[in-house]
Amino acid sequence: MMDKECISQLADEHGTPFYLVECESLMRQYEELKESLPEDSAIAYATKANYTPSVVRTFRDLGMHFDVFSPGELNLLMRNGCDPGRVIYTSVAEQEEEFMFGLKNGVSRFVLGSINGIKNFGEAVEREGVGEVEVLLRIQPVTNVDAAVSTSGVESKFGTVFSGEKDSVGNALKTIDERDLDFAGFHFHLGSQIKSPDPYVRAINETFDFAWSHDIDVRVLDIGGGFPVSYGFDVPPIEKFGAEIGKAIEKWREKLGGFELIVEPGRFLTADSTVLVVKVVNEKEMYGKRVLIVNGSEDMVSVDRHDMRIEIGAITDSTKPVEAAIAGNLCHSLDWIVKEPIELPGVGLEDLLVFEKTGAYVMNHNIPYNLRKVPKVLTVSEGEVEEEEHPFSTVGKIKAVYG
Ligand SMILES: Cc1ncc(COP(=O)(O)O)c(C=O)c1O
Repeated sequence: MMDKECISQLADEHGTPFYLVECESLMRQYEELKESLPEDSAIAYATKANYTPSVVRTFRDLGMHFDVFSPGELNLLMRNGCDPGRVIYTSVAEQEEEFMFGLKNGVSRFVLGSINGIKNFGEAVEREGVGEVEVLLRIQPVTNVDAAVSTSGVESKFGTVFSGEKDSVGNALKTIDERDLDFAGFHFHLGSQIKSPDPYVRAINETFDFAWSHDIDVRVLDIGGGFPVSYGFDVPPIEKFGAEIGKAIEKWREKLGGFELIVEPGRFLTADSTVLVVKVVNEKEMYGKRVLIVNGSEDMVSVDRHDMRIEIGAITDSTKPVEAAIAGNLCHSLDWIVKEPIELPGVGLEDLLVFEKTGAYVMNHNIPYNLRKVPKVLTVSEGEVEEEEHPFSTVGKIKAVYG
């Protein structure tokens, strides 16, 4: 990331708050992941992690695939020149209209996860009269995964289950068959910040054991995202995930023949790429503590349900450490960025604070509460800085296309 002097200069030129996204970081993460995974794996960026146009275009230029969850996300990709033929469309609601939107625009791979969704998709395919479209079925081959956010198990609303309930894998496969849809294989996404490669290996084995014992032809396996990022604590290196996943995949390829492997990382690719820069705009002393008030808010720094740890840098001339809490500028009582005082290097009025690793699942949770401005988004690539649209400034344009 840029040095403090450059960040100060950008603050003078553009004002604060702003996000600064470094495109080279995205490329580095991509290369590291690619090196770690089996050679022919398809890497699909989980678009929801960071909607900055330069992020999308960087991954487009690397020849990546994309995973989207809504017409809005698909529209963002198209507006940035991505090929819909490289998009995997997944949805939670699985409505006919969104499938039609995807089909009309040339998406040919859909992940389905409910009986109603399969029916809706079948209707959309018939109405659109399209030919070659592939269906992956979302399943939960292992549950309660050791992860910061688990998306598999009794608390999960995603995909189909192996039990005999209505939305079971068996019923789903039968419905796919009845609708004459092209079943290409399975998809699972086990969670985010997954703590070890074991759940992936178990899930791969469970999936293929099931396919093998039911004589199901699997041409594609999409194992989701979830690879962890270090927010100031140790996580296993990506090479370890790649090596263990690679061994399990090779074993099943030897047994069943070739199939395509897809991964869908979001956080691993983007978290490190971005910092948020805010200014201390007020300070006060109350209840025995010093409180710095900044021109940003907690939603701009981290999002609890995505489990992040805050890492802070400061740009200040003072060297005398201070103990302070950091509050945001929103009129809601939970808007604390750091509630209990911590030691900071001499930060006071007008100084800048830099929050690291805000590249995944942060910017896209910014709230316009109090009708204050969302931060600017600056990107830096090969030393050139550019100002970009904040993702939310595109939402009106998306509606115009979808509605
Ligand atoms: C289906 C799916 N794929 C991929 C991802 C990306 O996960 P991560 O950012 O942890 O890699 C998510 C995140 O929620 C997801 O729901």
